[in-house]
Amino acid sequence: MEKFVIKGNRPLIGEIDISGAKNAAVAILPATLLAKDVFLIENVPDIRDINSMLQILESMGAQISYANRSTVKIDTRHVQPGTVDYELTKNLRASYYLLGAMLGMYNSAKVAMPGGCNFGGVRPIDLHLKGFSALGAMISTDGGMIVAKANKLLGASIYFDKVSVGATINVMLAAVKARGITIIENAAREPHIVDLANFLNLMGARIKGAGTEVIKIEGVGELHGCNYSIIPDQIEAGTYMVAAAATCGDLLIKNVIPKHLDPISAKLRECGATVEEFDDSIRVSAGGRLHGCNIKTMPHPGFPTDMQPQFTVLLSLCEGISIVTDSVWDNRFRYVDQLTRMGAQIQIEGKAAIVQGSAALKGAPVKADDLRAGAAMIIAGLCAKGTTEIEDIIHIDRGYEDVVKKLTAVGATIARVNFPDPQNVVAKRA
Ligand code: UD1
Repeated sequence: MEKFVIKGNRPLIGEIDISGAKNAAVAILPATLLAKDVFLIENVPDIRDINSMLQILESMGAQISYANRSTVKIDTRHVQPGTVDYELTKNLRASYYLLGAMLGMYNSAKVAMPGGCNFGGVRPIDLHLKGFSALGAMISTDGGMIVAKANKLLGASIYFDKVSVGATINVMLAAVKARGITIIENAAREPHIVDLANFLNLMGARIKGAGTEVIKIEGVGELHGCNYSIIPDQIEAGTYMVAAAATCGDLLIKNVIPKHLDPISAKLRECGATVEEFDDSIRVSAGGRLHGCNIKTMPHPGFPTDMQPQFTVLLSLCEGISIVTDSVWDNRFRYVDQLTRMGAQIQIEGKAAIVQGSAALKGAPVKADDLRAGAAMIIAGLCAKGTTEIEDIIHIDRGYEDVVKKLTAVGATIARVNFPDPQNVVAKRA
């Protein structure tokens, strides 16, 4: 097993390059199943979630090769529609996009219920399935598998009563080849929705309105391969922006789209950090202790829920009381238990965390409960006095490329260390 060992209380100073967006890549890679052709996709992050998705595509007959570490060639000409079983989906939440892509291509999909990040509450997919039904698919479940089948998919008007990134993407994937026009109302507007639409349009799809609340999709008969470069990762960039401010550092974060970072920049400025925007980079610095502010997570363009744990770490070190409300997920404060072990003063009341800023955190052994909780623990460790050891870093590897290398290059003392699985030790003695 592996853990991160961090010696904290040092400012991060220097430059960090941002990798391709995980949440765009997990949608774009299965979208290649919608054509039997060859794709060259650049800016693909080398992280566990993406490698799991590539492994699934390979298991279906796609040929995967690499022009370089971040450029992947995908040849889908010999893909056979089949069943995607739990062994492949158990570590990847976004494996549900295979449902939309296979349904769109073959009118039939059988995919195991996904595993992946669990924030501590339920992650339903009822809206995805309602969207498929509206397009004419019959949905059933069979031994942990979701089965979607249609004689013919027909365009439809779909209103989502809740804004859902996953359901918007899945319906887009299923509808691009459906006969007629599909209209998605109350669609999610995240940057990766726009990125997927741009990719699908380059494949020959006719999608308008991505990035707004209403997406219109005119079904086409055939799609084809293309070359595409994935957008930079908004959340990876945001994580390093917060790390710069929390450590009283000065980071130039490169290969970003500053507009995507607006909600994070606005809150950092409100806390007193300096944020300077350039064409494709952003600089964040803080000269001393910042002051707290209130945060409420919302669908894009609101403050992203995937930045909530990291920002809460910063607020735990700011002057004054901050209130953090997560209006997207019901139970996304599980990581607070870990943070309080490092001296943070946080109380949970329903969907809100009340954060009383402390002057310092103290290093402690903690664990990464999920991907962004893990990122929060890294920021806490970088700020804390003494040594922080983070276990369960497998979650962090799902979404952050080269985190040790990138942080070490800007002055952090962080190492990936092997340690024996305590359960094995017990088993051996027994
Ligand atoms: C995506 C992101 C995840 C992020 C989330 C919200 C990916 C791979 N993951 O997850 O990191 O935290 O957006 O920005 O892009 N809901 C339903 N029924 C559904 C689907 C969702 O009730 O069928 C609810 C969820 O419980 C949640 C809310 O809608 O309360 C938003 O979820 P959604 O936007 O679908 O999140 P994901 O696409 O799963």
